[in-house]
Amino acid sequence: MIIAVDGPAASGKGTLSRRIASYYELAYLDTGTLYRGVGWVMLSKNLDPGDEAAAGETARSFSLEQIAGADIRTPDVGRAASRVAALPVVRAALLDFQRQFAAKPPHGAAGAVLDGRDIGTVVCPDALVKFYITAAPEERARRRHEELRQRDGGLSYEMTLEDIKRRDARDSGRETAPMRPAADAQFIDTTKLDADAVFARACRFIDNAIEDRNEAVG
Ligand code: CDP
Repeated sequence: MIIAVDGPAASGKGTLSRRIASYYELAYLDTGTLYRGVGWVMLSKNLDPGDEAAAGETARSFSLEQIAGADIRTPDVGRAASRVAALPVVRAALLDFQRQFAAKPPHGAAGAVLDGRDIGTVVCPDALVKFYITAAPEERARRRHEELRQRDGGLSYEMTLEDIKRRDARDSGRETAPMRPAADAQFIDTTKLDADAVFARACRFIDNAIEDRNEAVG
């Protein structure tokens, strides 16, 4: 059972994905970690995230151990992630890991929740349920600003909003696997919904899909 959760930055897809994974006992992969990880390694080596050859090499040799203890949630790493994510060599190098995770979830879990930008369209086009989680950019900036306020490198609200809009434009405008809802995605706009309401709505879709699948199997 694969659940795909896509959407733009700070839309609430991580919160929703973790809750789905815990409730349905599925493994969870935040695929943004992989792109942020490659971005972080590039920055830590003083490499330009737009350098295609270096980014490709970094992505091919990337492992999660390389970023153990690293703070990859900063705005700088987010920007670097979005730049390396636009490079086809990087996406190709990270695709296998994501598909393997979905096909053979760790710890013997019966399935997986993957969140990102292209899960429903590219990584897991056969997912049982696909969500596209959105929210107004101003609300997403408010949440991200709140989340990062306490840290070094946190931006003002205005700069956070600008950062989010620029990242949205790059992520949806790139040629390879752009951020886009799958044709059969369920949309949830979280602008005016709290985490419980979003989760309840998502569960209805998932429970219906499980029921339909069980009926089809007989
Ligand atoms: O946490 P936030 O929503 O800010 O972003 P993220 O999910 O950590 O992803 C960081 C960046 O990685 C995004 O802006 C995308 O450019 C890229 N990404 C991607 O291209 N494809 C994915 N499946 C996941 C992330």
